[in-house]
Amino acid sequence: MSSVYCALVHHPVVDRQGEEVTTSVTNLDVHDIARSARTYGLRGYFVVSPIEAQHPVVQRIVDHWCSGAGKHRFPERGEAIALVRLCSSIDHAIAEIEATEGKTPRLVVTSAKSGRNRISYAEEAERLRSESRPTLLLFGTGHGLADRVLQRADAFLEPIQGPTDFNHLSVRAAVAITLDRLFAVKSSANNPI
Ligand SMILES: C[S@@+](CC[C@H](N)C(=O)[O-])C[C@H]1O[C@@H](n2cnc3c(N)ncnc32)[C@H](O)[C@@H]1O
Repeated sequence: MSSVYCALVHHPVVDRQGEEVTTSVTNLDVHDIARSARTYGLRGYFVVSPIEAQHPVVQRIVDHWCSGAGKHRFPERGEAIALVRLCSSIDHAIAEIEATEGKTPRLVVTSAKSGRNRISYAEEAERLRSESRPTLLLFGTGHGLADRVLQRADAFLEPIQGPTDFNHLSVRAAVAITLDRLFAVKSSANNPI
C-alpha cells in the first residue's frame, strides 16, 4: 500500500484568463481538507504557498488546535490539523516526503477539465493498493493547477462529474470526493444479514 499525501497548491495555479498566479491561503481549506485527510488515512497534508507572510497564519491555526486552547476543547480537530505541513513549493513537499519515506513520491494531479490520458478512480485505487512508492495527490486553487504542474504528473485523475453540466465544485468538496472514491470502505448496509 502506498503512503498517500495530499497538497493544496497556491502556486503555480492559473486565474480565469489562464495566467499563472499565486492565491491566498484560506482558513476553511486548512481545516476541512485536514479533516478529510485524517478520515481517509493520509500521512500528511501540505499547504503549498510561496508567500512567506501567509505561513504564520497557517501556523497559528495549527498551534491553536494542536497545542493551544482548541486542543482541550476539540482534541479530534487537533488530530486532523496535526497532518498539516507548511511548505513554499511542490518541490519542498516532494523533498519532505522523500526524507520521511526514503522514496520519491508519484505525483497524481486533479482537474475539473476532461481531456486525454486521464485515469479512473478505480485504476488509481488499485494502483495505490499495490504501489510501494509514496503518492502525492495535488489539488489546485484559483482556476486550477498550472500546466507545468499537470505535465509533471505520473497520473492525471478523471474529473468528478455529476449528472448536470454545472462544473464548479469547491476544492474542499473535490478533495473529499476524490478521497472517498479512492479509499472508501464498502458499505455493508444493503447486505442481507
Ligand atoms: C476551483 S477548482 C479549479 C477548477 C479548474 N477550472 C480546473 O480545471 O481544475 C480548484 C481545484 O479543485 C479540484 N477540482 C475542482 N473541481 C473538480 C472536479 N470536477 N474534478 C476533479 N477535481 C476538481 C482540482 O484540484 C482543482 O484544481
